[in-house]
Amino acid sequence: MNKTRRPLIAGNWKMNHGGPTGVSLAAEIAALARAVSHTDVVIGPPFTALAACAAECHGTAVGIAGQNMHSKGSGAFTGEISAAMLKDAGCTWVILGHSERRQLFGETDGAVAEKTVAALGAKLLPIVCVGETLKEREAGETLRVVKRQVDAVLDILAQDAASVAIAYEPVWAIGTGKNAGPTEAEEVHEAIRTWLNGKSTDLAARTRLLYGGSLKPDNAAGLLGCPNVDGGLIGGASLDVAQFGAIARAAEAIASGTPGKS
Ligand code: PGA
Repeated sequence: MNKTRRPLIAGNWKMNHGGPTGVSLAAEIAALARAVSHTDVVIGPPFTALAACAAECHGTAVGIAGQNMHSKGSGAFTGEISAAMLKDAGCTWVILGHSERRQLFGETDGAVAEKTVAALGAKLLPIVCVGETLKEREAGETLRVVKRQVDAVLDILAQDAASVAIAYEPVWAIGTGKNAGPTEAEEVHEAIRTWLNGKSTDLAARTRLLYGGSLKPDNAAGLLGCPNVDGGLIGGASLDVAQFGAIARAAEAIASGTPGKS
């Protein structure tokens, strides 16, 4: 991890803990976040728990992320949520283009780009997710696919001065228990950094590149220790406060220069 960028450890709760159990989990995470002063901690509850979790975390170091949003500001879009609504609910972040959105709900690169524009316009920080499927990896297409996904948002991210994040999440590693190894992850993260740098050195310097896909306490130090990995987007392990805490402490140990403390 590069110490000029603060590590970001973000939990994606997916379709779990939409009520009081989410508020309890948020409270536990807020308590553990007090022990990590060099690391940004963010949680992504479902829409129904955002405002309550934001209230619970108010005054703590824990940021709140929406898991998705619509690109339009308002109107006849039954069941959708706008960037301004996420802001009103207390979000500072929004996860965009998660592979489950792309694969299960047909989100295209173009749709992710529109959402990225809308998020930045509303002063929400996007965590834009990219990543290849197993078939694409086996066909040797990983970097081509990830570059296409990054290219779709590159100009948009470069136009804004916000410290945004891109999460590299190989689809074959999500929820499978099969994480990318540090060498595989770093290869893609380094490529993303190079593409950002080709657009703008400032963009490359300020963008945090997160790894996601079966990130757990036992593989966190190896993955987070990679030079171009600036944190993690965590699904399953973010629902378990002990595991999420251990991953945050692994990031903290690297960022504060005391590896081994976890
Ligand atoms: P996982 O999910 O940690 O359960 O693999 C990651 C994600 O979907 O963001």
